[in-house]
Amino acid sequence: MSDTSKKLYIETLGCAMNVRDSEHIIAELNTKDNYTLTENLHEADLILVNTCSVREKPVSKLFSEIGKHNLHKKEGAKIGVCGCTASHLGKEIFRRAPYVSFVLGARNVSKISEAVKTERFLSVDIDHDESAYTFGEYRNSLYKAYVNISIGCDKKCTYCIVPHTRGEEISIPPELIIQEARKAAKNGAKEIFLLGQNVNSYGKRFSGMREQKIDFSDLLNAIGEIPEVERIRFTSPHPLHMDDKFLETFANNPKVCKSMHMPLQSGSSAVLERMKRGYTKEWFLNRALKLRAMIPDVSISTDIIVAFPGESEADFEETLDVMRQVQFEQIFAFKYSPRPLTKAAEFDDQIDATIGSLRLDRLQSMQDDILDVIAQSRRDKVYAVYIDELRNNGFLAGRTDNNALVQITGDESWLGQTINIKITNPKRLCLYGDSVI
Ligand code: SAH
Ligand code: SF4
Ligand code: F3S
Repeated sequence: MSDTSKKLYIETLGCAMNVRDSEHIIAELNTKDNYTLTENLHEADLILVNTCSVREKPVSKLFSEIGKHNLHKKEGAKIGVCGCTASHLGKEIFRRAPYVSFVLGARNVSKISEAVKTERFLSVDIDHDESAYTFGEYRNSLYKAYVNISIGCDKKCTYCIVPHTRGEEISIPPELIIQEARKAAKNGAKEIFLLGQNVNSYGKRFSGMREQKIDFSDLLNAIGEIPEVERIRFTSPHPLHMDDKFLETFANNPKVCKSMHMPLQSGSSAVLERMKRGYTKEWFLNRALKLRAMIPDVSISTDIIVAFPGESEADFEETLDVMRQVQFEQIFAFKYSPRPLTKAAEFDDQIDATIGSLRLDRLQSMQDDILDVIAQSRRDKVYAVYIDELRNNGFLAGRTDNNALVQITGDESWLGQTINIKITNPKRLCLYGDSVI
């Protein structure tokens, strides 16, 4: 039988939300327009880049990527730009890259089928409400499923462009979330990964006039009741909304994996104030140390921005101090990048890039030492690892409940299974081990 489908090549930059948006795009184009995926750019009829705007680097990357794609694409192939940079640059993208066929914002994903059929299609409305739209079905993995629980973000962190690319926060109706989680779990995804910019403010606002009394803790418990779901993860919670009810639900629901992302951004209360994060160093430490006390094996990850405008040496030391006290299992640290449309980009005390690089190096070397100790403490321990990936290097890979990456040589039939693994060779970023029967 000859393959009559059109071929779609898609490149996804940015965060897990973009990964999920790309899955939605693939599903819509497959069911409505008969596109199937290809990893070979040269044979693609449609090339999409799903973009990120959070720092300047991914934005420059977009233009270099589409420039290259335009040179190598097959004749007549279209190039489309989706995602957060599409939202923020809009028609400016047509000006800078005239060969682009359409520009589709991060909150306009449901219009993808229309976009591919319309010359110079532009849709970047950040008020568009897709919170109750049911997308077609496609997932990158059989074993774990991303499920969106909200769109947009109501915070106004002064460094962050996301509210300008994804608009105001709207929660997705709980019955849609539960239905989606149930379906994914029935199809084999024992791990459900809930996504939102601010998951623990879930339930604040629903589409239209709809009112519903439900918060994130209730949602976690409702998903925990789906029999086929074994593990629940989520990102990102906001430290400000980590009240006791939330921490207790997190600690007590056995299906909720014991790994918490707590985006610190800075350890200095003065910097946090200028970032408009809404919490202090003391509040953050109180929550993190309470978690450690409640759950001995919990792992805590974080995001840190160094060299935010006005960050003094003493401010930076406060960040290192929080790192020392919390001993994060994982840190995503970046140099502050001034973003258009944000308040902090206008602050007149921007920090020299070389100071930023030095601070980032110091932070990373301290974190490396912390990680070495954490890794060694895991030697000879046995962990239940949910195997969800066969890697190109031939290893099977999976995560412990508290999110440590483990690789093992084993049988492909282990995919989708939870295997007990004894750690024999712990490295900073990955633990290697053997199965114990
Ligand atoms: N909603 C999430 C963050 C999404 S953006 C939260 O509040 O945690 C992901 C991360 O990118 C942020 O946590 C922050 O550390 C980083 N980030 C955002 N804007 C940035 C900027 N202008 N410069 C450098 N890093 C930034
Ligand atoms: Fe950006 Fe702050 Fe919203 Fe996170 S909470 S997406 S950092 S504005
Ligand atoms: Fe995600 Fe980047 Fe947008 S981090 S929300 S894709 S700006």
